[in-house]
Amino acid sequence: MAAHMTQDHVSEQGRTKGGTPSPAAAAASAATGAAATMPATSWSGATAGAAAGLDATKAAAVGSPLVARDVWAGYGGVDILQGASVEVYPGQISVIVGPNGAGKSTLLKALMGLVQVRQGQVQYGSTDLTALPTFRRVRLGIGYVPQTQNVFPSLSVRENLLLGAFTQPRAITSGLERAFALFPELARRQQQRAGTLSGGERQMLAIARALMLSPRILLLDEPTAALSPAMVGLILDKVASIAQAGVGVGMVEQNARAALAIADHGYVLSLGQNRFTGSGPQLLANQDVVQLFLGG
Ligand SMILES: Nc1ncnc2c1ncn2[C@@H]1O[C@H](COP(=O)(O)OP(=O)(O)O)[C@@H](O)[C@H]1O
Ligand SMILES: [Mg+2]
Repeated sequence: MAAHMTQDHVSEQGRTKGGTPSPAAAAASAATGAAATMPATSWSGATAGAAAGLDATKAAAVGSPLVARDVWAGYGGVDILQGASVEVYPGQISVIVGPNGAGKSTLLKALMGLVQVRQGQVQYGSTDLTALPTFRRVRLGIGYVPQTQNVFPSLSVRENLLLGAFTQPRAITSGLERAFALFPELARRQQQRAGTLSGGERQMLAIARALMLSPRILLLDEPTAALSPAMVGLILDKVASIAQAGVGVGMVEQNARAALAIADHGYVLSLGQNRFTGSGPQLLANQDVVQLFLGG
């Protein structure tokens, strides 16, 4: 049976088993090899133009996976994450699902350096990011769209995009080109105040802003929250295009079924630990995952 076979590929991590070694280590060490096969980031025929602007550190990291391994982190001395792991590969989509409060946003923050990692590692290719400040991670090519307050409502669409590249003015022209190619709606609404956009348009703007610096890895925290089913589909299509262009996408999603359907790698996080790991379709075919975490 196909269902039986796919379930074999889902690994379940029990809370009582203790440490949960993952393929993360292999991924991290394979970083350099992966770089050679990665195409230049491009969509709509426009090349990313990144080659000219890349600094040496970033060039070395092109094509590398971003990996959190056995991470413990939290707030005010309380560990929300208790050994969580995730891997984001260039050109692929990783989706993290799980109940409210599971630590999904905290895991993205740990990848970005927005919470302190008390134990475990965050690695980008062969570079250890664990103690690196957020701005350095951004400079290395990691983009992040937080769950809330991800646009400046009083500024125009265009101003929001320009702010996305203010650290790298030379990236503005190509960045705007890419943003408008991916989201034509934003081109039409350039002068509109972001606060007057629909929920879906706002998410598009937040994603476009994060893409202004041509990141190699893009982390998205619930980009489809509170959107209509049609808009959920549209945003996920855009996410798929971004990955197809070579960017590694790490995405937290409450629309778990739709997101897992396009996930190369899926993670079910619960109480700060990985519970199930597999490809998105494998997780969707797993009865335990469906019953325990996807509402039957
Ligand atoms: N800034 C913060 N300070 C203190 N506790 C926080 C903070 N952010 C999140 N938490 C707590 O951490 C837990 C996990 O939060 P979060 O990572 O946002 O979960 P998820 O994204 O899976 O819903 C929750 O119990 C939440 O209340
Ligand atoms: Mg969250």
